[in-house]
Formats: sequence, structure tokens, C-alpha cells
Amino acid sequence: MNVFIQTYGCQMNKLDSALITAALQQAGFGLTDSVKQADVVLLNTCSVREHAEQRVLSHLGHLKHIKQTRTELVVGVIGCMAQRLGAELFEHEVVDIVCGPAQIPLIVGLVEKTLTNKQKVISVTEKIREKKKDAQSRALDDFECDYDSDKRQLPGQAYVRVMRGCDNFCTYCVVPFVRGPEVSRPPGAITEQIKKLAGEGVKQVTFLGQRVNAYEYKAGDKTYCLADLLYLASDVDGIEWIRFVTSYPSQKFYDEILKAMAGLPMVCSYLHMPAQSGSDKILKKMNRHYTCAEYLELLEKAKEIVPGIALSGDFIVGFPNETEDDFQATLELVKRAKYKNCFIFKYSPRPGTIADKRLADTVPLNIKKERNYQLLSVQEKISGELSGDLLGREVKILVEGLSKKPNEGSGQNTNAPQLTGRTADDWIVVFNGPESLAGRFVKVKITKTSPFTLFGELTTNGAL
Ligand code: SAH
Ligand code: SF4
Ligand code: F3S
Repeated sequence: MNVFIQTYGCQMNKLDSALITAALQQAGFGLTDSVKQADVVLLNTCSVREHAEQRVLSHLGHLKHIKQTRTELVVGVIGCMAQRLGAELFEHEVVDIVCGPAQIPLIVGLVEKTLTNKQKVISVTEKIREKKKDAQSRALDDFECDYDSDKRQLPGQAYVRVMRGCDNFCTYCVVPFVRGPEVSRPPGAITEQIKKLAGEGVKQVTFLGQRVNAYEYKAGDKTYCLADLLYLASDVDGIEWIRFVTSYPSQKFYDEILKAMAGLPMVCSYLHMPAQSGSDKILKKMNRHYTCAEYLELLEKAKEIVPGIALSGDFIVGFPNETEDDFQATLELVKRAKYKNCFIFKYSPRPGTIADKRLADTVPLNIKKERNYQLLSVQEKISGELSGDLLGREVKILVEGLSKKPNEGSGQNTNAPQLTGRTADDWIVVFNGPESLAGRFVKVKITKTSPFTLFGELTTNGAL
């Protein structure tokens, strides 16, 4: 029996898909990257914006077509959209399995049941905002640790979830309603997992949490924060780079985390800390608990304590009642922050969220598009300046693998395939080299730059 898994959404979903893949393989299923060869198709879905859900619905439309001639095909919708819509998804006749993110340890059973009984099955959390019972938390934790490392998408790298869920309730955001309450995993379980991964050849771990810097775990008299996890991970033999995403702009534990970054060579000098808006009025309506000035102070502190730190952020344009002045404040913030890059999204009302219940989606789509474009142009100019500074420099990168879309202009006349990798401060570097370098560290001299991508030539004769 072959399974095809398509993943939408953030790193949390990528990690869940890796866990599910491993669990299915351990249970004897094969894996395929073609729907044609699949007996089971699983869509691991995202609900963060309407567009993300629409992509899944159109994929379901395509699968319906296929199922007309292959009636035995099993289709499962898992992930955030499964939790948000639950049994409603069965209105799409093609759907056989609905499984929420907290139920993924049950996935093998659900798939087997559907294949044998030819019946539709659903497993979602009834009261998603209730703290999970210990047994369920433990099942998720065990599932997290059980899978082995070569099932991951990127060789030599692994995501390690340090927290589940989110309690922040930004008014626009669906995540607290699909991923449930915030829970920090025990530091002992996290360290054990990192040791296991390192033993399997993993060199870089990325800690995941919706507000990863809010990680807090009390054990006896000691309260562990993210900085403690950074120290613990740095002590694990074989781990060379450590990253963490996403940070929420807050003073809590901030100094400790920055000091750990500055003091530990293994912790990558990169901070992804979304601002969402530069207007205090909008930030308040978003239920973000900081002002633009406070946010900029946090960035200044990061630059002071961790010299050369690379920053990135997220922005939402066209939030309800965002005026031209509010948007100008966002532009101003981006100019001052000097991010390496930022991710810009057009506001999308999400059913069930406070913004959707209380605020009309007032900004027309053409204005959202225009603001998105303007903000991106300003960022592109800044990114171009920052990347230009790297021209001629030699950088160390962790190679990810073959470049997905071949880039022109690495400027090298060679038959070696085009590879991509990332520097510790998260710059993407494209260069030519043998595929066997995937998952290894190499040095590359930067020969050409564009705002978001660097191009270079290998200076090492193989891996470092
Ligand atoms: N927990 C992370 C990421 C959450 S989702 C954080 O708090 O930063 C990733 C990004 O999607 C958010 O940072 C936000 O910029 C964007 N986003 C979330 N909900 C959205 C919505 N309803 N419309 C448009 N963008 C949204
Ligand atoms: Fe959503 Fe805000 Fe939580 Fe991020 S911090 S997941 S934007 S509610
Ligand atoms: Fe991630 Fe989308 Fe869910 S951003 S947590 S996959 S709603």
C-alpha cells in the first residue's frame, strides 16, 4: 500500500508530516511522490489564510476526479483545516479520513480502518481549548520521539517542537483554535530527542513554537526558559547549529535568550520576530501586546547584544480600518528595522476569530495588493543592500540539496548540479557542487548577490 502526503502551511505541519510518514513506514506502508501510484492520499492542511484553505479545496476537486475511475482510493484531510472544519469536510464526498493535529498518533489506525472497513472515520479534538489530558500529551510526546531522522525533508537537519499550541489570541489568528492551548514540553524529553537525532547524524536542530521565546517549564525550584534549552542543546555532541522560530516581541526571558545567543557559537545569529504592523492603533486592535517603539527597542537590544544578528519579520497589510497613515507607519518601521527579509500577508478574515466577529474587512483587495507591493519594494531595497555587503566574502553554509527551481547566473561554467544551502544567519546561497554535499557544511565564496539570494563558488574541496 502506497501513501502520498502533501503538506501545506508552516514548519509545524512539515514536522507533523515527517512524523506521520515515519509512523506509516514503520507500519509497513510505502511512500510515493505521485498521486497516480498512491492507494492513500493525505493532505496535511493549513487554515491560517483563506487562500491556504482554497488550495486544499481545489486539490480535493482534483482528487474527486481521480476517484471517479479509482473508487478504492482513500483520501484523508489532516492538520489544521481538519480541526477547524471537522465533519463538515465530509460534505466533499471524496474525503474518507478527517484527523486533527492533536490526533496524529492515531493516524496509522485510522488509515488501516478505512482501508479494511471502507468506512469514513474522523478524529478531531472536541473542546480544543481545554488542556489535554496527561495521556494525550504523552501520546503526542512519544509520537514525537519515535520517528527516525532520515524521514525528514532536509538531510542533516531536524525540527524539534518545544511547545505546542498558542495562548496569545492575536485577534486575526486561527492558530489558537486549531492547535489548542500552549504547552511546553519537558526539557528532559527535548534533550533526549536531540541526543537521539545527533546520534542519527543530525547537525542542525530548529526549535519550533508559535511563541518559542515564551517556552517555560517548571521542574521543582527551577524554571526552564528557551535560553536553558539553547545551553542544553549546545552540550549535545554532533549538534553544530541551533535555530529557533518564531519569536514573539516580548521582554520576558529576552535578555537571557540574547545572552545565550551571544555566548554560544552554535546558536545561529538569526531572529525571526514578527511585528505585524507599525501602527500602535492597529497593534492594539490585533491584541499584540507592544507598541511600535517597544518593538524597535527590542530589535535595538538584539543588535547590541548579538552583533551582526540577522532579523526577519512578518507583516499583515490591510487589517480592518488600516488607514494610509497606519500603513505609512509600517513602511517606516520596516525602513528602521533593516530586516534581512520579511514575509508580507494580506489580511484574511478567519471564521471564529475575534477580528472576524467584531471588525468588518474594510480594506479593499486592490489596496491590500498595493500595500503588499509597496512594502515588499521597500524591503527588497534593504535586502539588496544587506546582501550586497556579502559580495566577495567567504561564508559557511549547511547544504540543503538540489535547488528546486534552477537559478540563472551562478555564473559558473560547470556540469555539477545547482545546490542550495543557508548561512547561519539564514541567507540562501546557490552554488554548483555534487549532490553528495547535501546535509554537510561547506564554504562558499559569494560571487554575485540579489536581494534575497546569494550566488557563490565552492572554496572547499568537499565537506568541512
Ligand atoms: N506564531 C507565529 C506565526 C503565526 S502564522 C507568530 O506569531 O509570529 C504566520 C503569519 O501569518 C503571522 O505572523 C501573520 O503575519 C500571518 N497571519 C496570521 N493570521 C493571518 C490572517 N488572518 N490574515 C493574514 N495573515 C495572517
Ligand atoms: Fe497566531 Fe498570535 Fe499565536 Fe502567532 S502568537 S500563532 S499570530 S495567535
Ligand atoms: Fe501552521 Fe497553518 Fe496550522 S500556519 S499551525 S499549518 S494554521
